[in-house]
Amino acid sequence: TGKFTYDPGFLSTASCNSAITYIDGDKGELLYRGYPIEQLAVNCDFLETCHLLLYGELPNSDQKSEFVNRVTHHTMVNEQMHFFLRGFRRDAHPMAVMTGLVGALSAFYHDSTDINNPEHRDIAAIRLIAKMPTLVSMAYKYSVGQPFIYPKNDLSYAGNFMRMMFATPCEDFHVSPVIERALDRIFILHADHEQNASTSTVRLCGSSGTNPFAAIAAGVACLWGPAHGGANEAALNMLEDIQRRGGVEKIGEFITQVKDKNSGIKLMGFGHRVYKNYDPRAKLMRETCHEVLNELGLHNDPLFKLAMALEKIALEDDYFVARKLYPNVDFYSGIVQRAIGIPVSLFTAIFALARTVGWIAQLNEMIADPEYKIGRPRQLFSGAAPRQVKPIGER
Ligand code: CMC
Repeated sequence: TGKFTYDPGFLSTASCNSAITYIDGDKGELLYRGYPIEQLAVNCDFLETCHLLLYGELPNSDQKSEFVNRVTHHTMVNEQMHFFLRGFRRDAHPMAVMTGLVGALSAFYHDSTDINNPEHRDIAAIRLIAKMPTLVSMAYKYSVGQPFIYPKNDLSYAGNFMRMMFATPCEDFHVSPVIERALDRIFILHADHEQNASTSTVRLCGSSGTNPFAAIAAGVACLWGPAHGGANEAALNMLEDIQRRGGVEKIGEFITQVKDKNSGIKLMGFGHRVYKNYDPRAKLMRETCHEVLNELGLHNDPLFKLAMALEKIALEDDYFVARKLYPNVDFYSGIVQRAIGIPVSLFTAIFALARTVGWIAQLNEMIADPEYKIGRPRQLFSGAAPRQVKPIGER
């Protein structure tokens, strides 16, 4: 066996060369194409960030208008997708629906199916970025039994998404600029995060030369899990659970349970494979949380107070200090989304919407890399030694 390096969970394996996202986990730094996330979150919008991730540079104003025009040109989905969606149960989890819908896009766009053709890959990227808000809001509208709202291209990316989510044919919907900006920031903070589980899934899936939409659907499926994108939903459920048990006063009891390894309970929204310091996205998200709650007159929101108290207690506790466990992006994002009116079950779908650009940028980078090969890990075999098959009567 000594031929292969055994590295379960890829703790020390670099699977690729990448020039997209840089993380210094000890310092708590995150950069997209060299730009600190704190500067992008304040100075840029999500579509500028998409341009940066996809093409390597922030757009100037002409490039931005061209990019926005290209994206908005593709915001609608084929009408047949509505019928496909209607095949799901209305109480299906939105991530189950999204895995299906994104995979189904491969059946519609025959001019963007060849992953080895740069033009196909580019048009697939634009289509995916354009259509994800439409698909997520369709999944939501279907679950609540309301008619689908078509995209409106003179709105911002986040503003259009909010309208497709919350407008109805009988009443239009106006979103406050603070909320629109907050949602846009959520998208920016989730846009890429180097070789995490879902991105590695997309790369591995795409390495077989599959259809780009199918590769992204694989990423959606991977993101669903509670150890990855599902953590935002799990973190909010956890906060609600502590609130039901009695709120801030019960934090100590809860932390004791978390520290007991037999309880199987983790502090959701805490800990990260790479960050051994404060996740910079969590800081920005906490700031956004303040802004959104103030805008909505919810500054006394008990869950936010609970989250801040829980964070403070955990950061001072020996268990968390010794293991360098800090809040991650998901700790506060659920509170922001819930305040905006987004149902908890949709949180991970919104993460998928935002991460789509990262997935496709990473996929494109891989295919364009002359060293790229189909991903094919080896194993250390631990099964039976060779043996003879006996006739069924002798087994
Ligand atoms: N609560 C309690 N203990 C924890 C937690 C937590 N959230 N996270 C890690 N630990 C403990 C873990 O039990 C282990 O303890 P010990 O050394 O005594 O065995 C130690 O800390 C190291 O943890 P690990 O499981 O070896 O770390 P990992 O890199 O394999 O896992 C993680 C990283 C994110 C899966 C994990 O921290 C976790 O499950 N966190 C909760 C879920 C979560 O918030 N996920 C979102 C991640 S950020 C968004 C995204 O990427 O999708």
